[in-house]
Amino acid sequence: MTANAHMESQERPSSRIPGFYHLDLRSRHQELAQRFDLTDEELRLLRGAGVDGLAIADKMVENCVGVLRLPVGLGLNFQVNGRDYVVPMVVEEPSVVAAASNMARIIRASGGFSAGASDSLMIAQVQVLAIDDPVFARAAIEQAADRIVGAANERHPNMVARGGGAKSLEVRLFDSEPQMLVIHLLVDCRDAMGANVVNDMAEGVAPLIEEVSGGRVRLRILSNLADRRLARAHCAIRVELLARQGREGSAVAEGVVEAYRFAAADPYRAATHNKGVMNGIDAVGIATGNDWRGLEAGAHAYAARNGRYEPLTRWWRKDGYLHGEIELPMAVGTVGGSTRVQPTLRVLQKLLGAQSAQELAMVMSAVGLAQNLGALCALATEGIQRGHMSLHARSVALAAGISHDRIDDVAAKLVRIGDFSASAAREVAETD
Ligand code: MEV
Repeated sequence: MTANAHMESQERPSSRIPGFYHLDLRSRHQELAQRFDLTDEELRLLRGAGVDGLAIADKMVENCVGVLRLPVGLGLNFQVNGRDYVVPMVVEEPSVVAAASNMARIIRASGGFSAGASDSLMIAQVQVLAIDDPVFARAAIEQAADRIVGAANERHPNMVARGGGAKSLEVRLFDSEPQMLVIHLLVDCRDAMGANVVNDMAEGVAPLIEEVSGGRVRLRILSNLADRRLARAHCAIRVELLARQGREGSAVAEGVVEAYRFAAADPYRAATHNKGVMNGIDAVGIATGNDWRGLEAGAHAYAARNGRYEPLTRWWRKDGYLHGEIELPMAVGTVGGSTRVQPTLRVLQKLLGAQSAQELAMVMSAVGLAQNLGALCALATEGIQRGHMSLHARSVALAAGISHDRIDDVAAKLVRIGDFSASAAREVAETD
């Protein structure tokens, strides 16, 4: 891990905004404008005004016919390596943002998260086939490593000038039928996610690799198993802080550990456990304009790296504390990508305040850990349905056509009667 707990201290607005949840949208915007010095233009972008989303979308994909909007929520209370972060999260599922914020508040009261991130190394894969003597070809490629790395870097002088670029290569021999060599070019993408640079390098060095190996290159593409670009977070929570709904903190902590053991023992459970982790990580990935399918692919492949599918987090108890840790590939960038074309993303970037890809990766791993803790605490105690349904009730009321000023009221009644159908929502609204 090369970036870690000792980032230079820089004054940032607190991520504690007590009562934010109870404010109406207008007051939330005022609060943000004041804390983060948002301009009127930035507020308009946040509201979805001031930008022709359809015109932008039309330039982004083919056959574009519309735009689908998703809510942006703010994960509050996050403190990572001593710095506060208000974390934009784009997600359609109720209770994800609330759970992350609640857990971050508890973790903050025990000192927050410590996190680290490796260099931003991506892997470009080049597949070589039709080799007469694979062992000889492998040695030839290894001998030509500097030339190949140099050829890759010649194509991207700007990346090299920023301290990044191709750094080294590795050759892997597969005893498949027919045998094949796979070359891994390790590329430091600095603050970019780097997919375009990495893919271009893979394609660019292919002729040289053919010349040196005497083989025929087929695929040239990055690997989403970005296991040289890892992020890691840890937290230690005083167990009494976990007390909830009449249950002692130590019982909740024990429940979390038992839930973790279930995931560690059973891939069926581990898949759901990790889905909960990715609820948070994807939400931040989308809010920062990153490729969340790449994040998903990397996370799940990493979860299976030991030959069986395992949980991405680990929980254990020690000396009155519940400890949690997470480690996973985090191929994210803070420059380039869709941040260039979507002005609203720049406002969200300003709120988050992550200055580098590594800083973003650390915050995202902390969010994944908090999200997982939120799910496990609920599952190990009252179950997730109660909290989930009370938030879901608002969507039900909205879908049933209830007017905006009555949504909260109708949702509260749906929770009380335990009926979440559209007809119940209309009935409740009419009988009031
Ligand atoms: C739901 O989106 C996520 C959970 O299923 C995660 C988990 O079970 O750990 C609640």
